[in-house]
Amino acid sequence: MSNASYYSIFTDANVQQRKDNFDDYWVFTQNHGGELLEADKDLAKKRARLEYFQNNPVRLTKPLANPEAFYRNYVEMVDDPKTLDRTTLLLSAIYKFARHEWVGIKGAWDVVPDMANSHLLEDKISRIHLAEEFCHVRLFDEMLKTCGLDQVEWVPLTPFKEKVYEQFPKMPGFLMDTPAFVTELMGVTFYCHLYRLFDELFAEEPLVRDRLKELLDEITIDEIAHVGQRRNFIGSIGIKISKYLVKPFYTLFFNDIPEVAHLFDVKQMIQDGEEFDFNKLPAYMIERTWIPSYCKA
Ligand SMILES: [Fe+2]
Ligand SMILES: [Fe+2]
Repeated sequence: MSNASYYSIFTDANVQQRKDNFDDYWVFTQNHGGELLEADKDLAKKRARLEYFQNNPVRLTKPLANPEAFYRNYVEMVDDPKTLDRTTLLLSAIYKFARHEWVGIKGAWDVVPDMANSHLLEDKISRIHLAEEFCHVRLFDEMLKTCGLDQVEWVPLTPFKEKVYEQFPKMPGFLMDTPAFVTELMGVTFYCHLYRLFDELFAEEPLVRDRLKELLDEITIDEIAHVGQRRNFIGSIGIKISKYLVKPFYTLFFNDIPEVAHLFDVKQMIQDGEEFDFNKLPAYMIERTWIPSYCKA
């Protein structure tokens, strides 16, 4: 637990505070990810970190009992989830969550301005944000490889759903900003719950458990910063609306991933989202992430 104390993420902020916070975030994000490698949708420091994991691999000492069950269900659930073991459910839930993220950013990358054509600070921030999200998909892929799943393919959604995701970033800010913020918040909530499940399901594989946590930490620390950054796009009315959106958004999204109800307490996740205020995050995360000034006590 960190000693510092923070206010709710739904704390109101005025226009000047939000402008100052974008300036502050911009300094943070350039240092945090390092140089943007736009052609590769990558960032220098993040790439180095992934290469460290890849060059120092950790693998299960006892391979998964039934990898076929994973491969049969990871894109679409075909079995009755009740018949699957919790580790298989967990790994396919991770894939499905990451796949949604991947589809969303793939659609956005092509429609938001590239760095050379980003004239507003907010656009520059969004470009780096997207590159970070691509790094997350690579880290998720490494999590699956850590569990011996090296045949995973990143499969697009149906053409209709892909089109829906492509339209999202083209929407005007007043429509797009609140769902974009709630989606980031949902990510942090999900990752915090996922972290605890690693303890339960990989108790007999401590090296794998610790590696999965290290990989997840890289993602979660970015996502905490994204929560603050996306919140910073939102004015006084929007931030009230956002809080009302937590429950329907989380419910809809997690209903779409059949594994989730078998592994996670969705009601608790909704409550954690509505109550999110940074105070429960460990100090080592707080040190590496970014929090808006108006959420600091
Ligand atoms: Fe992400
Ligand atoms: Fe994010």
